[in-house]
Amino acid sequence: MAKRMKNTHIWMIALIMVNGFAASACGAEPQLAPEYSARVLGSEQEATLASLRGQVVLLNAWATWCPPCREEMPDFEAIYTSYKEQGLAVVGVNIDEGEADDEVIRYVQGMKIGFSIWRDPNNRFGKRFRVLGVPATLLINREGMIVRRWQGPMDPGAADNLKTIKAALGSAPASIAANPQAQDGELAAVRRGRRLADQRGCLTCHSSDGTQGMGPSWKGLAGSTAQLTDGRSVLRDRAYLTRAIVDPDVEIVTGYSEGMMAGAMPGKRLSKIEVETLVRYLESLSQ
Ligand code: HEC
Repeated sequence: MAKRMKNTHIWMIALIMVNGFAASACGAEPQLAPEYSARVLGSEQEATLASLRGQVVLLNAWATWCPPCREEMPDFEAIYTSYKEQGLAVVGVNIDEGEADDEVIRYVQGMKIGFSIWRDPNNRFGKRFRVLGVPATLLINREGMIVRRWQGPMDPGAADNLKTIKAALGSAPASIAANPQAQDGELAAVRRGRRLADQRGCLTCHSSDGTQGMGPSWKGLAGSTAQLTDGRSVLRDRAYLTRAIVDPDVEIVTGYSEGMMAGAMPGKRLSKIEVETLVRYLESLSQ
């Protein structure tokens, strides 16, 4: 597509919504944010969304050739300066094609942008988060759930938007049990996970209360460190838990042997969403 065409039209298709986008924008149940990483502007370092867990994240996809994106940059900078102390992370995901780092750096410096800028020249962002065009913005809460999406321009300082952001900042990554009302969507997700673990037979080998079964108890598992039979120790983060479910034979925790779980439970038969739901449930047992 010619560059001029992009300049004038891409952000307009931004208003087309795909795959449940509209529904989630209207306050439907929050969804778990997918795994996503991109290169930090001007470096070789890969940044992951998961590393921002515990903070509230405003994730904004933008391009230098997109006028409405440019217009909203100062607003994002303003909201970032005002709320970073309270745990707000703003990430501008720049999707300019090719090796445009220099141009983007010049641009960002000119605008005096202090929040993080990541580079995603192939716009994997669009696929991952199911959005078309830029600007597109997501608000991710401290638990890693997408609580709101904006396709097209959004003014983070507008009363309604600010209210949503402040609400997310206000809810500390506290225990679900301690704050059941504020965590309705979260609770429903956890309940689904529990039901799924039961249906899939996971609970025949794994307990949720610390009791040893054929497999390790899930209580307090997420976030702890695993000693693997190959000598490595790894943090049981979301990526690890996902691997442990999908490819149970790849990493084996000490004290167990290969094939015990894989034999009984071919994780390949679980859908991506089911795996996410199970991981979410596991994480809830560490809160
Ligand atoms: C037949 C018993 C059995 C069933 C059923 C089973 N597991 Fe396991 N699971 C194990 C054993 C044994 C291990 C430890 C060996 C290993 O790491 O693979 C394990 C390990 C795990 C781990 C990593 C634990 C750690 O200490 O890091 C996770 C996560 C896990 N299972 C999730 C699940 C989920 C989700 C299901 C259901 C979809 C399930 N398991 C079903 C036996 C089972």
